[in-house]
Amino acid sequence: MEIALLGGTGDIGEGLALRWARDTEHSVVIGSRDPEKATSRANDYDELLSARGVDIDVTGVGNEEAAATADVVVVSVPPEYATDTVDTIASQLDDETVLVSPAVAMRRDGAGFHYEAPEAGSVAEAIEDTAPNDVPIVGAFQNLAAGALSDLDRDLAADVIVTSDDAEAKALVSSLAAEIDGLRALDGGPLAVTALVESMTPLLINLAMNNDGMHDLGVRFQ
Ligand SMILES: NC(=O)c1ccc[n+]([C@@H]2O[C@H](COP(=O)([O-])OP(=O)(O)OC[C@H]3O[C@@H](n4cnc5c(N)ncnc54)[C@H](OP(=O)(O)O)[C@@H]3O)[C@@H](O)[C@H]2O)c1
Repeated sequence: MEIALLGGTGDIGEGLALRWARDTEHSVVIGSRDPEKATSRANDYDELLSARGVDIDVTGVGNEEAAATADVVVVSVPPEYATDTVDTIASQLDDETVLVSPAVAMRRDGAGFHYEAPEAGSVAEAIEDTAPNDVPIVGAFQNLAAGALSDLDRDLAADVIVTSDDAEAKALVSSLAAEIDGLRALDGGPLAVTALVESMTPLLINLAMNNDGMHDLGVRFQ
């Protein structure tokens, strides 16, 4: 399986790339608007992994090239650029490419972080509105903290809630999530309820800010 991380040069991209490269056999491709930046970040990830005895080649290319051959494309860019980014790679997508949204739209004021749903209802649904019609869309990974993923010394114990209208795509992304050590995938329902998942992230950040000793929180249901 080939997983492309658009904007995989950033925080959540790094965390997911390192974990998938370390814990699974899948190929991980870092995408960027700037192919040189992608190559350089992929080399950084390779070095981090090889320092831990993991001899895996993470590669880096432009976003469009990354999407062209991938089975799963994670839109790991800030939420306000998610739909524009999907537009730039739309010609590389088809019904065989699963598009994953980890994005959460938030705003911060004096009270803390607030969820700010886009007009479509959630970022995942905004992506659905933008992507070609036949492309399966999945919401996942919104409640994971990049800091926890990128810290490979940290043992994870978190749930990934997966939403989609496409059962096959949902099962595929659930299995990719569960292949990361310490993550469990839960079926969150159809894409139309993704706002519920996205809106948990500002709560997690507020909890981390307001309570001593809490940082990079995730959720675990029991
Ligand atoms: N950080 C977290 O803990 C976390 C947790 C859960 C979910 N998320 C979600 O994951 C997504 C990425 O978050 P992040 O923290 O990884 O973001 P980030 O580090 O700020 O940015 C990720 C990448 O997005 C690309 N980017 C920046 N501006 C862009 C633009 N105008 N157009 C297209 N691409 C642009 C950049 O890649 P290039 O310059 O290489 O193109 C950047 O490295 C967000 O939607 C966020 O809500 C984040």
